[in-house]
Amino acid sequence: MAFTSLTFILLSSFCFILQAQAQAQAPAPSSGDVNLTAILVKGGQFTTLIKLLQDTQQLTQIQSQLNSTSQGFTVFAPTDNAFQNLKSGALNGLGEEQKVQLILYHVTPKYYSLSDLLTVSNPVRTQASGREGSWGLNFTGQGNQVNVSTGIVETQLNNALRQQFPLAVYQVDKVLLPEELFGAKSPAAAPSPKSAKSSPEIPSVGKTGGAPSPSGNGAAERNVGLGVIVGIGLICMGALF
Ligand SMILES: *[C@@H]1O[C@H](CO)[C@@H](O)[C@H](O)[C@H]1NC(C)=O
Ligand SMILES: *[C@@H]1O[C@H](CO)[C@@H](O)[C@H](O)[C@H]1NC(C)=O
Ligand SMILES: *[C@@H]1O[C@H](CO)[C@@H](O)[C@H](O)[C@H]1NC(C)=O
Ligand SMILES: *[C@@H]1O[C@H](CO)[C@@H](O)[C@H](O)[C@H]1NC(C)=O
Repeated sequence: MAFTSLTFILLSSFCFILQAQAQAQAPAPSSGDVNLTAILVKGGQFTTLIKLLQDTQQLTQIQSQLNSTSQGFTVFAPTDNAFQNLKSGALNGLGEEQKVQLILYHVTPKYYSLSDLLTVSNPVRTQASGREGSWGLNFTGQGNQVNVSTGIVETQLNNALRQQFPLAVYQVDKVLLPEELFGAKSPAAAPSPKSAKSSPEIPSVGKTGGAPSPSGNGAAERNVGLGVIVGIGLICMGALF
């Protein structure tokens, strides 16, 4: 008897917590009025970047992640001049996927103030990643001047268009070309011919890690877990009516 009521109380509290959590999650945390597009438009010399961000759907991605990020973002914004100074065909030579990677290489999944970047440990990971992991940027500082290097391109961080959590936007006068796309050993989008070598094909879609659990055990545990969840779910429903 006592045991049953205790169980009931425990389960009811659990249901209550579940409900409370669901409610807490319902209103999306708003990051105020941070609007990346507006920041770039106001900057006045970023039309190519804005267009690329739109074409690759990354503007929506970043903007929606800004609403929920706890780490913030840093965007390195090449000017229209920077894009014009690229070798002709450099951009058009890229496939859709590579364009996305190029754009993501200009974004870090963390907010860095300029003084953060003076002391950050290199390389700093960006949103772009390949099989080898995340593509990095290196930062070096002297006085208040911060340089960013990709291994191919080095340029100064100029104007901070915005420097306030959760978003920092720094103007750069060169497009940050990743070695992975523009370096001597860049694969030029031909993974199949050389894959006969040692490294096995891993069908990863961007995300690494998350080692597969030993399957036998896992399945059994999942079934038990499912049973418990269904049971609690039924009790929760009962408690609601
Ligand atoms: C962000 O700014 C752009 C350009 O000023 C504007 O078109 C857009 O509606 C704004 N988005 C939001 C969500 O306020
Ligand atoms: C981000 O949050 C703002 C304010 O709550 C909202 O107006 C906007 O639609 C959200 N944007 C996205 C892409 O979720
Ligand atoms: C960045 O810095 C790391 C560590 O200092 C170094 O190993 C790497 O070669 C550098 N990469 C580039 C692209 O400069
Ligand atoms: C930063 O890069 C510029 C070239 O863009 C170079 O002249 C300058 O010496 C670099 N500064 C540092 C601290 O590496």
